[in-house]
Amino acid sequence: MSGINYSEKIPNNVNLSEDRTLQRALEQWQPNFINWWDDMGPEGSKDMDVYLRTAVSVDPQGWAQFGHVKMRDYRWGVFLNPGEQDRKIHFGDHKGEKAWQDVPGEHRANLRRIIVTQGDTEPASVEQQRHLGLTAPSMYDLRNLFQINVEEGRHLWAMVYLLHKYFGRDGREEADALLQRNSGNEDNPRILQAFNEKTPDWLSFFMFTYFTDRDGKFQLCALAESAFDPLARTTKFMLTEEAHHMFVGESGVSRTIQRTVDVMNQLKTDDVAKLRAAGVIDLPTIQRYINFHFSVTIDLFGADESSNAATFYSSGLKGRYEEGKRTDDHVLKGNTYKILAVENGKLIEKEVPMLNALNEVLRDDYITDSKGGIERWNRVIEKAGISFKLTAPHKAFHRNIGSLSGSKITPDGRVVTSEEWMSKVGEWLPTNDDRAYVASLMGRVTEPGKFANWIAPPVMGINRQPVDFDYVRFS
Ligand SMILES: [Fe+2]
Ligand SMILES: [Fe+2]
Repeated sequence: MSGINYSEKIPNNVNLSEDRTLQRALEQWQPNFINWWDDMGPEGSKDMDVYLRTAVSVDPQGWAQFGHVKMRDYRWGVFLNPGEQDRKIHFGDHKGEKAWQDVPGEHRANLRRIIVTQGDTEPASVEQQRHLGLTAPSMYDLRNLFQINVEEGRHLWAMVYLLHKYFGRDGREEADALLQRNSGNEDNPRILQAFNEKTPDWLSFFMFTYFTDRDGKFQLCALAESAFDPLARTTKFMLTEEAHHMFVGESGVSRTIQRTVDVMNQLKTDDVAKLRAAGVIDLPTIQRYINFHFSVTIDLFGADESSNAATFYSSGLKGRYEEGKRTDDHVLKGNTYKILAVENGKLIEKEVPMLNALNEVLRDDYITDSKGGIERWNRVIEKAGISFKLTAPHKAFHRNIGSLSGSKITPDGRVVTSEEWMSKVGEWLPTNDDRAYVASLMGRVTEPGKFANWIAPPVMGINRQPVDFDYVRFS
């Protein structure tokens, strides 16, 4: 069951050949996907052989096989975690009933919307990152970017499979539309705003894969609890791929900081101008990038009070993070939760029914998780003997969704006037100057084992290969 059949046109572990109609429909979608990859995927990568991992089985042991391949020949396919026998729904109004192997009519529209929204983010990030290969700080980093890109393509396949198999003609139309919307396109943009932003440089890329791919992790974890069993099994396998994306982000920022503190110690200075003259990214700029990516990403969890969130939970479509580990009744009817609001110019906590606050619950779990990496980054600074602390901004800072979106709130949680905001925002969010400076550092380094001046080499290579391995072969 868990082994993947690679002899078919579309690799899969779902016995695709037994459902000829579905197989044919997906085989028709496949060339459109390849066209999309050629048009919107990594720029200038066509002739490169990239040291990629490919799933050979969904078992934890047999997960990956490594080898040099051209990305357009990557075996994208349909992989689900094995089903659990007699799986039961374990939250919401249907708690205790059998998990669904098909889509119940009354939840069809909501499930389709959830799957389409998730599916839309996958190709969007490939589009956002498509120019980054031209300025990779090393061959090692270039390979990691491409690994993430092919896996986001695979995640698109995961959602497209569900749409085709369970949603009939609407599903097929939605699957086509996933290749038609484009990140940042004025007429036909991606669904969520964070996925229409540019990822203009590698610091942004590392921040994106640390913070925004982690949003992906939390959304997928919530969907892995779903009563709709095929969605739960699909997202569980996607999560094994997601871990690597967050690793790339965390280690990328960590290596950037490492290089900066090394130069700070060499030059015995924390003077921003001197550090910039030496070609490294000063810590205050890194803090502003954190502030930006953190705040934009926590918006992705949606409004703090949402009746949709309540419906999704009560009807069993989407659970909480680690639903099974929680000790409450998993129905949450009488429970409350605290959300933030601004009253008389101050941030206050407001108690609301928990069911309506489930976006906020997921956001808070995300925040706890994402602070872990910031602490690990601080250890790099501490170890270098430098007194500077990176922090996550306040949850209310720079919000564009929910009840806080109308207010101006500082990174330490103070409500301020628009005037104060305008006069200080350059200390809190990346300025045009910051972005131009970071952009000026981006140049392509392609010799094995060589790294751009602004970033330290990794501690280890990929799949126990040396750091100076030829991860990408240009021809
Ligand atoms: Fe993904
Ligand atoms: Fe990802």
